[in-house]
Amino acid sequence: MVLRAALPFLLLLWVAFFFSSPMLPLSTADGACARLGQPMQRRGGGSVARDGEGAWRWYLAIWYKKISKTTPVWIANRATPISDPNSSQLTVSEDGNLVLFDQTRSLIWATNITSSINSTVGVILDSGNFVLAPASNTSNFHWQSFDEPTNVWLPGAKLGRNKVTGQTTRFISWQSSVDPSPGYYTLEIDPNGSDQFIHRWNDSAIYWETGRWIGNMFAGVPEMAMYPKEALSYEFTVNEQESYFVYRTNASMVTAMFIMEVSGQVKTVAWIERKKDWVPFLALPKAQCAVYFVCGSFTMCTENAVTFCSCLRGFSKQYNGEWRYGNPSGGCKRNTKLQCGGKSSKKTTADEFYALAVAKLPDKAWGLATVSTDGCKEACLNNCSCTAYSYAGGCSLWYGDLINLVAPADGSVGQSIHIRLAASEFSSSTKTRKATVIGASTAGAILVTLIMIIGILLILRKRNFSEANKVEGSLVVFSYRFLQHVTKNFSERLGKGSFGPVFKGTLPDGTLIAVKKLDGVSQGEKQFRAEVSTIGTIQHVNLIRLLGFCSEKSMKMLVYEFMPNGSLDRYLFGSIPLTLNWKTRYQIALGIAKGLAYLHEKCRSLIIHCDIKPENVLLDADFMPKIADFGLAKLLGRDVSRVLTTMRGTIGYLAPEWISGTAITAKADVFSYGMMLFEIISGNRNADWHRQGGQGAGTFFPVLVAMRLPEGKIQDLLGPKLSADANLEEVERACKVACWCVQDDENTRPTMGEIVQILEGLVDVGFPPVPWYLHVLAQRSNFSTEETSQ
Ligand SMILES: *[C@@H]1O[C@H](CO)[C@@H](O)[C@H](O)[C@H]1NC(C)=O
Ligand SMILES: *[C@@H]1O[C@H](CO)[C@@H](O)[C@H](O)[C@H]1NC(C)=O
Ligand SMILES: *[C@@H]1O[C@H](CO)[C@@H](O)[C@H](O)[C@H]1NC(C)=O
Ligand SMILES: *[C@@H]1O[C@H](CO)[C@@H](O)[C@H](O)[C@H]1NC(C)=O
Ligand SMILES: *[C@@H]1O[C@H](CO)[C@@H](O)[C@H](O)[C@H]1NC(C)=O
Ligand SMILES: *[C@@H]1O[C@H](CO)[C@@H](O)[C@H](O)[C@H]1NC(C)=O
Ligand SMILES: *[C@@H]1O[C@H](CO)[C@@H](O)[C@H](O)[C@H]1NC(C)=O
Ligand SMILES: *[C@@H]1O[C@H](CO)[C@@H](O)[C@H](O)[C@H]1NC(C)=O
Repeated sequence: MVLRAALPFLLLLWVAFFFSSPMLPLSTADGACARLGQPMQRRGGGSVARDGEGAWRWYLAIWYKKISKTTPVWIANRATPISDPNSSQLTVSEDGNLVLFDQTRSLIWATNITSSINSTVGVILDSGNFVLAPASNTSNFHWQSFDEPTNVWLPGAKLGRNKVTGQTTRFISWQSSVDPSPGYYTLEIDPNGSDQFIHRWNDSAIYWETGRWIGNMFAGVPEMAMYPKEALSYEFTVNEQESYFVYRTNASMVTAMFIMEVSGQVKTVAWIERKKDWVPFLALPKAQCAVYFVCGSFTMCTENAVTFCSCLRGFSKQYNGEWRYGNPSGGCKRNTKLQCGGKSSKKTTADEFYALAVAKLPDKAWGLATVSTDGCKEACLNNCSCTAYSYAGGCSLWYGDLINLVAPADGSVGQSIHIRLAASEFSSSTKTRKATVIGASTAGAILVTLIMIIGILLILRKRNFSEANKVEGSLVVFSYRFLQHVTKNFSERLGKGSFGPVFKGTLPDGTLIAVKKLDGVSQGEKQFRAEVSTIGTIQHVNLIRLLGFCSEKSMKMLVYEFMPNGSLDRYLFGSIPLTLNWKTRYQIALGIAKGLAYLHEKCRSLIIHCDIKPENVLLDADFMPKIADFGLAKLLGRDVSRVLTTMRGTIGYLAPEWISGTAITAKADVFSYGMMLFEIISGNRNADWHRQGGQGAGTFFPVLVAMRLPEGKIQDLLGPKLSADANLEEVERACKVACWCVQDDENTRPTMGEIVQILEGLVDVGFPPVPWYLHVLAQRSNFSTEETSQ
């Protein structure tokens, strides 16, 4: 009885985790052959485990052989590790089951099948599926690992329900990054029978649904329309026996898989050889903080923060070790026990509250009919298990653990919730506050004097702020303290770009600036300065101008001219009532094309922007567009994979070649520009197509355009609010350009220089072919043609 790998594509081997080290580096064996019935041994040398180092935990696992980072895609004994692999035994028992015994001959794990075949073999297929089958015909397997997955969903595996047996396949997250035992999060088909998949926490709370299958994608995952079908295809099958979803990848183009992460998001990850790592390009749900219980009790979840979970004031981390391994769901515990004295006890010892801003109030509130905020607070104080209250017209009370608190998004105020803490948590800080006040008033006089002196100094230096700072080439080198001063200690945040937060500042001469604090600059000082001065020499009216920088130790900042109208997305999709008229939108499209053409064709070295999207187009006082963040991908050493990572769930602007892993050229920017141009034309996000109202509702806008262009029915595409003032000739030109930009083959896409000429009306172009993946989409989505013909 031989266990064999059909091709040396995947290996069945042991993988080990030590409590304090993420993964034991194993050298691979020369083929994964093991005689069953004997201890399974690794061949090809290399130490398996080190003695005397404590509790190694060993697992029987499958991972990719051709991928250098050991990534278990299936684990047999995920909940029952083995302490000594040498004396363990993997064998096929007499009843035809694969069984795993530990050194004491106790059963660790087994398949659970009934079969009457004598000569069973175990085979790892190329797909990564491990099957038990008769030796005579390995296609006729009677058990497969695909039916009992762990946290990874491999291409070709069915995710769904067997209607005959009632069995469903489901993916269960790991407990933490070093513990593969089942965690809290699962992905499975809706147990109620609808054609959608659900994310659940602890088999109870449903925190995300994919939305129904609508013939070519799930309603809530419009990004599926963007996958290049040659690289990644999928289908949803419903018949008498089963309903399941399956996807396939083109192994010559991409190695990709779905993972249910410890943090409850399902991510599509692709192996990027250049980066030697898995890179996520889609996360569901998109918001990390939308995952139920992701940070545990008494925590705040902050979207896009590196460590997204933090304890509320007055609480500290529980189970520190688990936090370290990516599982903060142990949450936080109270530093000081509540006094629990309501009105009855002495006022001085009663608990107190502090106000906290959250994106939305947590669920499971108890409503109370009181007319005042004091009454609401009193009601909470009167019940020992009440932990928070909120009064906004009505009174809401929360009992027990507070969960799912999310910080308000940038620029939003959120809602206010009052958190209960022991009074002593406040008294200490009020004491220090008093002390500070006294100290401050005595120091006041001195401060006033100092401020006067500084004021005088500033007046003296006012004429030219750069006197306070050195000048290097065309750039000013600012000191950290100067920037701290002009930004009022970085208090006015303009937004958060892909590379770090941006703050508003005012130079002594009144000039407004935008200061970008760079996250994670890995380059040395010299290289940093060289790159920055290159960016400084790039000047064009449609590119944001770099004025200077700051580089002090790890503190790196870039100082840009300030754009009073903010970024384009606010005007296209935001809540700002002012909608840009057609003329302005066309000028914006043309301006961006000119800026990009300059980056691609006129600079000394080609600069690929890599992240063209409305958020990276800023508008000056006259709505002249200026491209932001160019040159930064190179400066920060952020390659393909970093860009993919920062896209965080929306691949709406990414050219297919980003996903297929082929070389990136300037044509990738052209693709992104095309996708953005569709949005400038429609005034809607392409990815939001399924939520749009009006003409052609429910159809991916680029599909509509590609289909309608040859029919000459372009004006129908614009909603009434946009078509009123549109110049139809320009609309058609813009639509043609956009369609040419999103062609699958990058050689068919025009250059940015050509785009400028077309938009200026100097050159005419023919009707573009419908890009193949849009074509597939259009053909498959019957509903869209029905709805659009109304
Ligand atoms: C397993 O056997 C190998 C070779 O005999 C030995 O080097 C290794 O230390 C053993 N591992 C354990 C965990 O006992
Ligand atoms: C094995 O399968 C049988 C029937 O198929 C079931 O009754 C039993 O609970 C299973 N045992 C385990 C350990 O899963
Ligand atoms: C299985 O083995 C038993 C005993 O070794 C033998 O009698 C039987 O015919 C075999 N069955 C098949 C299908 O080969
Ligand atoms: C092997 O098994 C598969 C699946 O049951 C069957 O379709 C195929 O015909 C079998 N092949 C042979 C050579 O028996
Ligand atoms: C399934 O149906 C039950 C009862 O109608 C409902 O409570 C539950 O939320 C449904 N689950 C899903 C995933 O829709
Ligand atoms: C998860 O569910 C189980 C069973 O319903 C329950 O006993 C357990 O307390 C739950 N876990 C948490 C953290 O609430
Ligand atoms: C896989 O990709 C190659 C190009 O890399 C292409 O020629 C082939 O047709 C693709 N296969 C499928 C099934 O799409
Ligand atoms: C506190 O409130 C909870 C939930 O409403 C209730 O079950 C409990 O009896 C209350 N305790 C007191 C002392 O009123």
